[in-house]
Amino acid sequence: MAVSSAPGKVYLFGEHAVVYGEPAVPCAIERRATVEVSARSDGRLRVDAGDLTLDGFTVEYGGDGAPDVDVPQSLVQAATGYVDGAVAQARDAADSPDVGFDVAIESAIPLGAGLGSSAAVAVAGIDAATRELGIELSTEELAKRAYRVEREVQSGEASRADTFCSAMGGAVRVEGDDCRRLDAPNLPFVIGYDGGAGDTGELVAGVRALREEYDFAADTVEAIGDLVRRGERALDEGDIAELGRLMDVNHGLLSALGVSSRSLDAMVWAAREAGAHGAKLTGAGGGGCIVALDESEASRTALGYTPGCVESFRAELDFEGVRRED
Ligand code: MEV
Repeated sequence: MAVSSAPGKVYLFGEHAVVYGEPAVPCAIERRATVEVSARSDGRLRVDAGDLTLDGFTVEYGGDGAPDVDVPQSLVQAATGYVDGAVAQARDAADSPDVGFDVAIESAIPLGAGLGSSAAVAVAGIDAATRELGIELSTEELAKRAYRVEREVQSGEASRADTFCSAMGGAVRVEGDDCRRLDAPNLPFVIGYDGGAGDTGELVAGVRALREEYDFAADTVEAIGDLVRRGERALDEGDIAELGRLMDVNHGLLSALGVSSRSLDAMVWAAREAGAHGAKLTGAGGGGCIVALDESEASRTALGYTPGCVESFRAELDFEGVRRED
């Protein structure tokens, strides 16, 4: 048996625009997905994802790929797509196409909520499954293979940002294929969660359609890239007030691209009005989480009273990426 964990993330800046080659700065947070893997000789795959959803579920399937389950298909696809992909990557890395696995996932990262749950499951899953087969992949190789999984699940449209950040930990910068760690202070993140989820594939496709139809949308994507470059300077100088101002602008630009929602906007305004340096949605949007910068407890408390917010919590930057837990 092998057990690995990998962190979730928030986007300080740059989601969506990063899909078109603009830079982005995601930051790993101390909320992890843990994946336990045991090889089995009958070639079957059994996935126990009891902690990924409120109801929990177990799926078991063999060579025909038809899961035997009784929960909403969209949830099954979301969770098992990443597990299937991670298993395929491990079989490929170990040159063992017929090996089966028992996989159990536990996650403190809500599914589809903008905190990188799927990337964390892919990274931890590939690490645990390859180690179970006696192979140690470098962190860079894990990030590359997890990116392939994410790209496949998102129908060919994904950046390397989520998977690289989850594999490496800390604050990272991703621009196309150029991925690296950044020096960053421990930022005072506050997260608000509306209990919902967005469909990343659909949201990414929506931004693509808008960008193809309207020049202003293409300009908006470029403007996000400019903003990220300014944000990197602020991060380098440890200028929290400027980081907050730029997060506010980034949220406005994401709203213009159609990926915010009423509850995300409500949580962003609640955090700002409580004195946060800035606040924005994080991840694909459509529902899920916002991230604010606030050293005090004020915005976390205000979010607790905001209609539509089901949970608010402080999240520390996690400087550690994928890690062995066995
Ligand atoms: C989703 O967490 C982030 C997006 O930029 C998509 C991606 O980068 O693959 C919306």
